[in-house]
Amino acid sequence: MQTLSDPHRLHQLVRQWRLAGERVAFVPTMGNLHDGHIELVHQARTRADRVVTSIFVNPMQFGPSEDLDAYPRTLEQDKQRLFEAGCDLLFTPERELLYPAGLSEQTYVEVPGLSDLHCGASRPGHFRGVTTIVCKLFNLVQPDIACFGEKDYQQLAVIRTMVRDLNMPVEVIGIPTVREADGLAMSSRNGYLTDSERATAPELKRTLDITAQALKTLGLETRAELEQQACDRLSQRGFTPDFIRICHGTTLAPAKPGDTSVVILAAAQLGRARLIDNLAVDLTE
Ligand code: PAJ
Repeated sequence: MQTLSDPHRLHQLVRQWRLAGERVAFVPTMGNLHDGHIELVHQARTRADRVVTSIFVNPMQFGPSEDLDAYPRTLEQDKQRLFEAGCDLLFTPERELLYPAGLSEQTYVEVPGLSDLHCGASRPGHFRGVTTIVCKLFNLVQPDIACFGEKDYQQLAVIRTMVRDLNMPVEVIGIPTVREADGLAMSSRNGYLTDSERATAPELKRTLDITAQALKTLGLETRAELEQQACDRLSQRGFTPDFIRICHGTTLAPAKPGDTSVVILAAAQLGRARLIDNLAVDLTE
């Protein structure tokens, strides 16, 4: 596996592969890799001849009071894991290359509407930062396909919309969430949890499961009550819920009676960690 931070060398290498008729898959990350990230690399491997992964802790998607400086950086360990997973090329761009004029002067890409809901309402500017960096990375890597985790459900929806609206020649693939044995979705931010918070954390997924079960029995007419009950359940267990919302599976608007493909989106603070999770529910079953 090669590691490059120079975009010209990256471009040359990817060009050679493409000229040889090879299909290139891309997995963008912010590093501190866990089994969820590695699953994206494995899935990319099965769908393409070459796999490029990037590690870049993107300052543009962090709010002023968020954890940019504290965000865990474990490059040597990450390289070893990527090598073992069969990644061909690790791209580790420098901040100066990606934001030469600084963040305030940066041209940006924004998906209107969808970027302002849910996590976007709690983290203003977050999705603008995500779409801008993903667009820039797509331009640098020029992949045929790109893999993103369903764990970040809204992020995946925002990226799919950007790719569609701007006719980007990239196929976006969503990969199911990888979980710990007790159900907690893997996340770099789980490392912020104390031992007792870690023992509580699986209650987030349990709350999603309980809400999904109730939804199947009681129907979407009870949406608001079920959301409130889920928030109360989390509060009683020591979380500070940001939201639990039962949404239309693609527009992420509040689900209405008659909708069949819905998703329950959840975000809650537990100690220092902001945890997010989601569960898709098929109401035709
Ligand atoms: P990061 O949080 O490092 O996640 C990188 C990719 O891994 C994302 O597509 C995310 O959805 C996926 N992922 C994280 N946890 C997962 C899990 N438990 N199971 C499956 N996939 C998981 O998301 C970002 O970085 C950034 O916003 C990025 C897209 C790289 C732009 O900066």
